[in-house]
Amino acid sequence: MRTCAIVVAAGAGTRFGAPKQFVPLRGARVAHHAVAVAGASCDDVVVVLPADTTWDGPPVTASVTGGVTRSESVRCGLAAVPDDADVIVVHDAARPLASSALFRAVVAAVETGADGAVPALPVSDTVKQVEGDRVVETVDRDGLMAVQTPQAFRAEVLRKAHAEAPEATDDAALVEALGGAVVVVDGDPRNIKITTALDLELAMALLSGGDAA
Ligand code: CTP
Ligand code: MG
Repeated sequence: MRTCAIVVAAGAGTRFGAPKQFVPLRGARVAHHAVAVAGASCDDVVVVLPADTTWDGPPVTASVTGGVTRSESVRCGLAAVPDDADVIVVHDAARPLASSALFRAVVAAVETGADGAVPALPVSDTVKQVEGDRVVETVDRDGLMAVQTPQAFRAEVLRKAHAEAPEATDDAALVEALGGAVVVVDGDPRNIKITTALDLELAMALLSGGDAA
């Protein structure tokens, strides 16, 4: 089956304080790492960039300008995905440590029949519903999973899920909303998303093979 990755790198990095996907990480930019693994794992890669940004990383099939929200940026990428792609894998440029094994695992789950597949890890902290500073309730952690990218989908299902230009924090939520069958594969604790400066320090430590202590 023909696979195409969309690597979304058009965010503003508000919580980090800068477009974190372009900061240096061990001799390359954060997004370069994400695109390199996508390119090693998929037949095509579409990278989605902020306006007025030129791609300076590993080879890609296409680079396009993104939108105001992540979902819009994914749609900008979708428009550049080759028509003959069977499986589309959406990946955050802010996850530089994803492995090609993880890409292969989500693609394999779709190739064997799922509409979508996402890496997931059990939630280890206790989770509470809070209003202001007041705890409303403690959420039952049983069955709660934290979900990562890369997320793989049957191409026609992902295109349909985005057809009405909906918004969600990940693509699986849009496929779920259509009634699509989304499965989980084992997530990777090393596959962190760079959100704050501390995450970047952690990524540097993980890449150097050391621990973050
Ligand atoms: N993203 C995107 N287009 C947007 C918003 C986000 O391509 N309009 C991308 C980001 O570049 C990132 C991924 O989606 O690779 C996950 O988003 P997030 O971690 O929230 O990054 P930002 O939106 O840039 O950060 P923040 O929410 O702190 O502003
Ligand atoms: Mg964001």
